[in-house]
Amino acid sequence: MNAIEIVNLSKSYGKIGALWNMSLEVPEGTIYGLVGPNGSGKTTLIKALVGAVRPNSGYAKVLGLDPLIDKWKLRKQIGYMPQSPALYDDLSARDNILFFGKAQDVPDLQKKVDEILSFAELTSRANDAVRTFSGGMKKRVSLCCALIHNPKIIFLDEPTAAVDPHLKMQSWILFRKLAQSGVTIFVSTHQMDEVMLCDKVTILRNGEILAVDTPQNILKRGKTRLKISINNEERTALIDSNAKNLADELKKFGLENDISTVELHSDSIEDIILAIVLEKEKEKKS
Ligand SMILES: Nc1ncnc2c1ncn2[C@@H]1O[C@H](COP(=O)(O)OP(=O)(O)OP(=O)(O)O)[C@@H](O)[C@H]1O
Ligand SMILES: [Mg+2]
Repeated sequence: MNAIEIVNLSKSYGKIGALWNMSLEVPEGTIYGLVGPNGSGKTTLIKALVGAVRPNSGYAKVLGLDPLIDKWKLRKQIGYMPQSPALYDDLSARDNILFFGKAQDVPDLQKKVDEILSFAELTSRANDAVRTFSGGMKKRVSLCCALIHNPKIIFLDEPTAAVDPHLKMQSWILFRKLAQSGVTIFVSTHQMDEVMLCDKVTILRNGEILAVDTPQNILKRGKTRLKISINNEERTALIDSNAKNLADELKKFGLENDISTVELHSDSIEDIILAIVLEKEKEKKS
């Protein structure tokens, strides 16, 4: 089943076009990434899905509901972390999260708030006013507010911009766990390592969709530069990621004809960091 359906959605702010005839389907339980340059329409799209902006034409359905007409029904089922944290600066981190939790009638709220503060590594600063926090810490409080009521869909607008690498990775481990339990995560980012952690990615530019694909397929669109030295003479070739093309190219340099494919595989930096973090988690638990 689709958690989100967008059909021919357009939005402009006066003369400024932000989204143009956009259609998209997001299956339940996926981590769906949104990337694109500044001003490409990521925030506007998320706002349209949480009922914060009214499209000029087309429509969106979130959990089968209309984000504008069914705003209050939806509010209980979705979490939204805006690009700029919308927190009460004079309240403590704990009181901000309690405020969101109470508005959603979260059962066992005190315990949940303690748990989530601990996850965000904010326990020691829990009772300090948010105005005394750094940018990254405010982002973490904002993420806690979006998650406190166990929403079915979480909209995250650049959730880890300004968050340190350790907590960024912790957040992504949590997103993956949530997705495995059926929660849909709709997340915008400028960070390419995060793109690799999504199930599917939509690339936006000037309010239009350029591509919708898995990050692996997007990677395959890249080229590999092959450089071979023979008797001090350098020969180069540009090939795509198809293993057969690599074999064909190497045959020019004497690769045996029976060999039909050659593959190169290197762990990306994200693979390595994630494996290290997961290994650490395992060590902690055992
Ligand atoms: N409230 C507004 N009034 C007028 N124009 C707006 C408003 N909000 C956004 N826009 C315009 O809509 C377009 C899309 O903006 P949007 O904020 O959705 O982009 P974005 O992809 O989120 O960018 P960023 O990566 O910088 O966050 C831009 O041209 C922007 O100037
Ligand atoms: Mg934005």
